[in-house]
Parts: sequence; C-alpha cells; structure tokens
Amino acid sequence: MSQTLSAAPQSFETLDTEYQLFSLGQFSFSRDNNFAIIRWPGGVHYMHVELFLSAMVRDLGWEFLYGWIFFDDIFGTINYYGKVEVFAGTHHPSYKKAGIAYHETFDTEQVLEVFQGIANDWINEGYDPLCVPRETGSAHGPKGRPARISLTRGFTQPAKRMLGLPGDAVARSSASGQPISESFKDLHLEFDRPQVKTEPGFEGSLHAVNVFDHIARSEVTWIPSTVSSTRNSLFCMSSEEHVLPVTHGNDRPEWFIQLTDEIHWTLQDKETGAPLGRVAMRPGDVCAMPADIRHKGFAPKRAMLLVLENSTPDLPPLYANGTLAPYPVEF
Ligand code: PHB
Ligand code: FE
Repeated sequence: MSQTLSAAPQSFETLDTEYQLFSLGQFSFSRDNNFAIIRWPGGVHYMHVELFLSAMVRDLGWEFLYGWIFFDDIFGTINYYGKVEVFAGTHHPSYKKAGIAYHETFDTEQVLEVFQGIANDWINEGYDPLCVPRETGSAHGPKGRPARISLTRGFTQPAKRMLGLPGDAVARSSASGQPISESFKDLHLEFDRPQVKTEPGFEGSLHAVNVFDHIARSEVTWIPSTVSSTRNSLFCMSSEEHVLPVTHGNDRPEWFIQLTDEIHWTLQDKETGAPLGRVAMRPGDVCAMPADIRHKGFAPKRAMLLVLENSTPDLPPLYANGTLAPYPVEF
C-alpha cells in the first residue's frame, strides 16, 4: 500500500491551554499537556513535549552548534553563524515530494529570543530538560509553577586559559565545589592531581588538571564544555547517558574519543535521513564523524566523551561545495 502525505488539516481545535503561543516568521509553536505543536504554511507537526524541550534547550544553549540540529526527522535548525534557518520537512524526502516542506531564515537573535521565551513559559517546576529521565519528573500536564532551574548550567564559553588557571571559568574540581556525579561512583576512579613544576618565569601560566575529575563533576549530560582552544582547534568534554536529545548534522568533520564506558552512534545520510550505519565506541576508540551525515548517540550508562572540533569559520562552504572531502582520512 502506498502512503501519501498531504497538506495537514489546519482546522483541528487546539485544546484549551494556558501555555503561551509563540510565532517566528510563519512558524508557530504551541504546547498542550502532551505535545509541542509546530505549524507552518501548509503543515503541522506534533512532537512529544519532552523530546521537543530537551532538544530545544540544548539548541538554545549551544546557540545552534555547528550546522544542522534535528529535533527529530522533520523539524530543526541550521546554523549559518549570524543567521539561522528553521526548517520543517526540508530534509525529509516525503515532505519535500508532497510539497509541504518549509523553511525560513532569521537573524540568530530572533530565534534565540523565541526559544528563550518558550523555555521560560513551557517548563514547569518538577521537570528539568537537562537531566536524564531517571533524574527528573515529567514535562506532561497543564501549566504549573515555573521551574526554578538554571538552563545555562553546563554550557560554557571556550576556556581562555589553561583549564584550572586563575581567570578560567570552566574547570571543575574538588576545590570548585561540584560533587562527583553519583553516576560515576562505580568507576572507582582515583582523581590524582597532576604534579606541576614550573620553571622560573612561567609561574601562573602553566597548569595541569585531571580531566576525568572535571567530567565526573558534570551534573548534566550531552553538553560538551570546551576545555581548551588552540586557535580553531577545540577540545570539548562531556558526560553522556541515555539518548542525545538531538540528531546532529555536521557541516565539518568532528572527532570522538571514547574515554570511559560505551556510546553507540547511529548514522544517517544528512540530506535524506537514510540509515548509513552504526558505530559502537568503547574506551580508547576514536572515530571521525564525516561532514555529510547526521548522527545520534546512545549511552547505556553514564560515559565520558572527548570531542574535537575545528571551529575554522570558512569551513562549511568548502565541505558543502565538495572542495574538501567529507571525511578527514583516505584509507
Ligand atoms: C554531537 O552532536 O556531536 C554531540 C553533541 C553533544 C554531545 C556529544 C556529541 O554531548
Ligand atoms: Fe556532532
């Protein structure tokens, strides 16, 4: 039996809700007790409200990351660094074929403002979209009291100095007060402090930290903190558990080094979403995610990951027009 998509009916009554409706260009965003509902000219899309919120607060905190962020197969954003494209169905072959795909480009600030408004209005006390499901209550239900949580925790500016030196904001350690996450207690890690012997003249500019200690004290998941930048080469570290709430479509390759435990990645063609493969990573494994795919991570238990990003500004067009191969190594 063949299935066809047709323009979605616009006449459904929306349930009475106290949640605010938001508009962004010709997109509108509403929520009821269970769903985030995204409408655009000729289309409507329902998302499980927790999937929508956990993806949206990350997209907001990352300021749209690199390239494509898919909230699911249909809806997402593309970062053009200063502008953001918001799309629905544009990277889904059936939506395109049916003529109901839609996208619109905005100044970055406009999208940030609307996403921040949604975050402020739609997240009730008891639900924390930065937590894994076993650590938080549910987002379902009618409007309640506003949540009193920080939605910026874990999102850091790239370290300006060696992690842990005075003036650096991102090092976590016993001294900085964040406790070791309960989820890492089973690792029985000894968090040695590296010994640093500084030659005269270099006091205050040389330092070393234990990165396991830094990551073990992260209270959030799937939010890499940029712990070093050498020109445009960034090291980002994070703790991961459960499902990465977004699917990331690269506009450049990125490298993953698995530090502890396990992460399984599913890979899809970036344009069509067709399944391409799976990568299972165990401690010490290294892989490069190419520039022409989408990927989503699954971590059965809390795991530590090191991500290497190349933040060189003019890279995306070189990959998009084929000047550079989508993968970094020819075997
Ligand atoms: C990614 O999309 O590459 C990604 C996002 C969040 C993480 C790790 C990797 O925590
Ligand atoms: Fe990625």
